[in-house]
Order: sequence, then C-alpha cells, then structure tokens
Amino acid sequence: MINDVLVKPLDGVTPDSDTRATISARPGGAAANQAAWMAHLGADVVFAGRVGARDMAYHRRELARAGVRARLAADREAETGSIVIMVEPDGERTMFTDRGANLRLRRADVPARLLDGAAVLHLTGYTFCEPPLLEVALWLLGQARARGLAVTIDPGSAAFLARMGPTAFLRWTEGAAVCFPNRDEAAVLTGEAEPAAMAARLTRHYGVVVVKLGGAGCVLAVPGEAPVPIAAHPARATDTTGAGDAFCAAFMSRWLAAPRANPTGANPTVPDLTAADLTAAAVFAVRVAATVVTRFGARPV
Ligand SMILES: Nc1ncnc2c1ncn2[C@@H]1O[C@H](COP(=O)(O)OP(=O)(O)OP(=O)(O)O)[C@@H](O)[C@H]1O
Ligand SMILES: [Mg+2]
Repeated sequence: MINDVLVKPLDGVTPDSDTRATISARPGGAAANQAAWMAHLGADVVFAGRVGARDMAYHRRELARAGVRARLAADREAETGSIVIMVEPDGERTMFTDRGANLRLRRADVPARLLDGAAVLHLTGYTFCEPPLLEVALWLLGQARARGLAVTIDPGSAAFLARMGPTAFLRWTEGAAVCFPNRDEAAVLTGEAEPAAMAARLTRHYGVVVVKLGGAGCVLAVPGEAPVPIAAHPARATDTTGAGDAFCAAFMSRWLAAPRANPTGANPTVPDLTAADLTAAAVFAVRVAATVVTRFGARPV
C-alpha cells in the first residue's frame, strides 16, 4: 500500500526557494491500484497489504469505494509507504520512494486461506526485493502452487529487478501464467534491445507475456508463436501514473472471464484463451490504460 503525493510544478523549479505547484495526495501502490481497477471492471478481488495504523481507515475506505475486499494489517511502528511523484509538463515523472510499512509485510498479513477458492494469485516484483518480504512472496507462490492456482506477475520496477538479479527473479516466478513487464523491466530480465525479442525470450518462462510499451502500446507473446504488437489507444498524456496497473487489471479481467483449461491440462485453473481472445484482452487493456493517462491519479474512482 502506498500514499502517492503528486507534485505538478507550475513554473520551472527554483532551487533554494519556492516553486509554485499543485500537490495532491492519492491512494496508490501498484497492486492496490490494479485491485481497484479489477474490481471496478467487475472482478471479485481481495487485496492484502500493510499500512501505517493511522492510515488504515482511509485505505480501507478507498479500496472499498472501488469494490475491493481489503485485508489490511495495521503497523503501529512504520508509516504507510509513500512515493512523491513529480510530474513535468511533458508527463515525465521523477519518483522518490519510501516503502515504509510494506517492507514489514509478514505471512500472517496474507493468510493462505485467502487463496482458497481464488482463481489467481497476482504479485508485483516489489514483494520480491528485500529478504523478509521475499520469504513471504516465495511462501505465497508455494501455497498457490499447492492449490494448482494460476499466478500472474507484474515485475514492477526495473531498478529493483536489477538489484535483486534478473536470473533469480526468473527462477522465483518461473511458470507464471502471465507476466506483465514494462519495456525497461523486460530489458533487464532478458538483456534484449527489441520489445518483440524481449517478449519472445520471456515465453521460455511464462505462459503469456505482455510487454507494456507506454505510448507505443504493448507486445503480446505466447510460446512458439510470433509476438503480436498492439498499438496504444491515442491519448493526451497528463499523468501516466498507474497506467500499467490499469492495463494489467483490464487484461486480467478479460483473461479471468474465459473458461478454464481442460482438467487434463497441466494447470486446470489457467484460463484457456485463443490467440484472438488474448489479442482482444490486450486491445481492451490499451483502451482502459489510455483513460488513466489523461488525468491525475491511478485509481478508477
Ligand atoms: N502516452 C500514452 N498514450 C496512450 N497510452 C499510454 C500512454 N502511456 C501508457 N499508455 C498505456 O498504458 C500501458 C502501460 O503503460 P506503461 O508501459 O508505462 O506501463 P508501466 O511502466 O508498468 O506503468 P506504471 O507507471 O503504471 O508502472 C501501455 O501499454 C499503454 O497501453
Ligand atoms: Mg508498472
């Protein structure tokens, strides 16, 4: 869970003095944003996370507003994680990240019974990047595996991926049903320069790969097939915060609506989509993501 502080300077930044700006505080966090979008699009979603005790009611209310069932642990010592996002006139963003209470997430905050009856476990890369958290992520993946539950992954941060090591990350998340890296994350994971090559390479590890390419849309790939580029939906970008989260949510809402694979398949809980269905899901995702970039904030409501 993250508190986003969006800063939009109104003039050129003046060092050592005041710069006029509009500043707004919003609920954020990649997984929470995605949960909000998924619920908004009709999925039944549980979000589990950790917040500073004094923000508990606020985050619970905000997630409920989007239709998410929130299971929040209140931390009495650490503050809610926070990010200051400075948005320049061209939509470029500079972010300062303090992960706060998120780094103190523990097993008891995400009880395994939340997976009973679920269709999918979604994790972001942020859960893998510090030892105590990593242990929770790997334990959850084991619990999902034991239940034959599909797993989806948004690697989330190229900088964190580079720090934790792409080889280790690929090993931990191997076999996930869908992986949603952005261009920078896919580059770190594969060492490739071209998005289609990145996507094709990642199909060695995942059932479906969607590389998000900002204003250039995305590339969709499944093992053994040529990657399919999908153009972005035209939009006038004001603030791209959360576009990737909304993209994943929209894609997954279509993906989850598909019938489950034949029980003779390796993983009966993985939705069984044709190439055309996957393309349609990605086209829907670029459309939903385009609505997010045109306005401030990362949530549907
Ligand atoms: N300028 C834009 N115009 C139209 N669509 C956009 C634009 N920027 C992003 N999108 C859409 O949003 C999707 C996700 O954006 P992006 O590739 O930036 O993901 P991300 O880096 O994971 O985002 P986030 O900042 O939320 O983590 C893109 O695949 C695209 O469909
Ligand atoms: Mg992202």
